[in-house]
Amino acid sequence: MDTNEKRVKWVEDYLVKVKIEDVLAEYYIGKNILVTGGAGAIGSNLIIALSKLTGESGKVVVLDNLSSIKKKYPWNVTPLKNIMFVEGDVRNDIDLKRVFKENIHLVFHLAAFFANQNSVDYPEISAEVDVIGQIKLLEYSRLAKIERFIYASSGCAIYGSYPELPLKEDFISMHLTTPYQVNKMTGEMYCNFYAHHYDMKIVNCRFFNSYGPGEVPGQYRNVIPNFIYWAMNGKSLPITGTGEETRDFTYVLDLVQGLVKAGYYNEAIGENFNLASGKETSIIDMANLVNEVCGNKSPINHKPRRKWDTKPRLLASVEKARRLVRYQPFVEFNEGFMKNIEWFRENWAIIKGLADFPPGMSSAVRNEVREKSG
Ligand SMILES: NC(=O)c1ccc[n+]([C@@H]2O[C@H](COP(=O)([O-])OP(=O)(O)OC[C@H]3O[C@@H](n4cnc5c(N)ncnc54)[C@H](O)[C@@H]3O)[C@@H](O)[C@H]2O)c1
Repeated sequence: MDTNEKRVKWVEDYLVKVKIEDVLAEYYIGKNILVTGGAGAIGSNLIIALSKLTGESGKVVVLDNLSSIKKKYPWNVTPLKNIMFVEGDVRNDIDLKRVFKENIHLVFHLAAFFANQNSVDYPEISAEVDVIGQIKLLEYSRLAKIERFIYASSGCAIYGSYPELPLKEDFISMHLTTPYQVNKMTGEMYCNFYAHHYDMKIVNCRFFNSYGPGEVPGQYRNVIPNFIYWAMNGKSLPITGTGEETRDFTYVLDLVQGLVKAGYYNEAIGENFNLASGKETSIIDMANLVNEVCGNKSPINHKPRRKWDTKPRLLASVEKARRLVRYQPFVEFNEGFMKNIEWFRENWAIIKGLADFPPGMSSAVRNEVREKSG
């Protein structure tokens, strides 16, 4: 089985295990679905699930400019018959016209300038993609009279740093610490505007720290793929902070489950809700697990916290998602983590070549990279 066939099997097995309801499968059959950012870490998993659900009478159109990953590699757009890949930009009218020619019924908007540190380094691009790009997409979606627009919002962009845990949807913070957070929150507000003014059916899904097969390490990527990458290279893991900080790490296919349900249940329309695991894992526990599984003996290295990283703990309530769309996080951290490791090991030669840590680019990792390559 090659890497794509394996990935498809993981997604199919997951859909069977979570018992994706028959009504949902019936609903998706024959639909044409646009997924922006469909070549990304989460999108590349979502498009496989949607390809299964729409069947060959429908299609999944991926619009992605490949900016996160630099180039198309063997797994980011799995070659399935009903997946159509358009390399293009959500800011570009020609690309948008091209994809909306496909008689689109639903839009899943995942394209974003990822993520916090990247937006600190390049604030204008962050706003261009995450705000202007999204407004354009909403306009085209409105003109195309699509049935539903599902937005990949972010828990870190809504709740700020010190609210009560678990984070519930009725809390909002104005004290955001990166342009990414500001722009992702703005994205939700634009969705709400289009819902109110044009009666568009929108759903705001607030993701929490995704991990799992499909995410390649890099200077602007999440902590889990980067830790696995460094541990597999025998390097010490850098912890920015005490390590007692926690995150609500969510297996990527649980997010996919939440998204396909958000596209189906009418109760989701006009709503916002968390998609998370509903459990906390400390950074130090996660780092120790990475080192143990990878057989890495290099000691953990503590660094000062990055200025924008003000969240000591993240834990989301998933009650609202459970109630509205029957979301049920299914994959325990250890199980999802081992799948992630399996995927890394199988694709190690490619991942090693793609991992993107150019020295001098990101103010946060620059010194780190110098030390590691020294
Ligand atoms: N990964 C997480 O932990 C997490 C947490 C909260 C929210 N989110 C949101 O979920 C979405 C998907 O996240 P991900 O982890 O898959 O990120 P990702 O960077 O892997 O995927 C985003 C994709 O969008 C593409 N893209 C970027 N700019 C584009 C543009 N101008 N036009 C077209 N395509 C463009 C990238 O090439 C990439 O493939 C994002 O909107 C992100 O803000 C992610």
